[in-house]
Amino acid sequence: RQTAPMPVDIKSRKGGEPIVSLTAYTTPMAQMMDAHCDIVLVGDSVGMVLHGLPSTLEVTMEMMILHGRAVSRGLSRAMMVIDMPFGSYEQSSEQAFENAAQLMRETGAGAVKLEGGQHMAQTIEFLVQRGIPVMAHIGLTPQSINTLGGYKVQGRGPQADVLMQDAKAVAAAGAFSVVLEKTPQGLSDEITASIDIPTIGIGASAGCDGQILVVDDMLGLFTAFKAKFVKRYADLGDLGEAAIAAYAADVRARRFPGPEHVFADAAPKVKAAQ
Ligand code: KIV
Ligand code: NA
Repeated sequence: RQTAPMPVDIKSRKGGEPIVSLTAYTTPMAQMMDAHCDIVLVGDSVGMVLHGLPSTLEVTMEMMILHGRAVSRGLSRAMMVIDMPFGSYEQSSEQAFENAAQLMRETGAGAVKLEGGQHMAQTIEFLVQRGIPVMAHIGLTPQSINTLGGYKVQGRGPQADVLMQDAKAVAAAGAFSVVLEKTPQGLSDEITASIDIPTIGIGASAGCDGQILVVDDMLGLFTAFKAKFVKRYADLGDLGEAAIAAYAADVRARRFPGPEHVFADAAPKVKAAQ
């Protein structure tokens, strides 16, 4: 995968053409977005989106590696970033390095993403100095849902300055970009103007240097709930259920399989039997 952009290329797009990003968890989804996205994120949202977990807290290294390998097989030009799961990096810089190296080694990801601002800056610097590009993630950080107290907008009122300091800290630590999740529009724009690395918004602002969405959300495949910041570009969940209902009706009425789906008892003469 020589043509994939490098984290430094992404960083150099600060203030330029918006960076396009989506999550992916499987090979076919990765193939679908490879030509259209700059960054494909193997998000730990995989736990909720594909495995039916109630939050991202139960996602393991093993799950990330399995899905990371699947996504990697579907990409030839987009850059792949992989989430560090809850519990794999918070304890120490050494723990973070060991797990980040394993994620990159075993999946072919070009960078890792981890959640946290000022308190993770030291770890980000430790990783970057040792060859691991880091995308930071601040604002609503779903792995901290139990201390944040819910999926609410982050950085309103007096918390705005904390979020600005978080953004500055991860940029100074050497992150090549930062995800801003569920942060007010004006503050998101101020942060974008105040740091020299690209901001990737999700529920942030069209003024960010890039955008990211969970692919199953924007395709209408994940319908357990819809956040305000999700725009549905398709309703594949409804289409899929209608197709399954049609199949069930066909089977029950013996309309499926049809003559074109079954095999003759004698092999055809001209063409080799299939
Ligand atoms: O796991 C995920 O999908 C993410 C994005 C929403 C940024 O972290
Ligand atoms: Na995530």
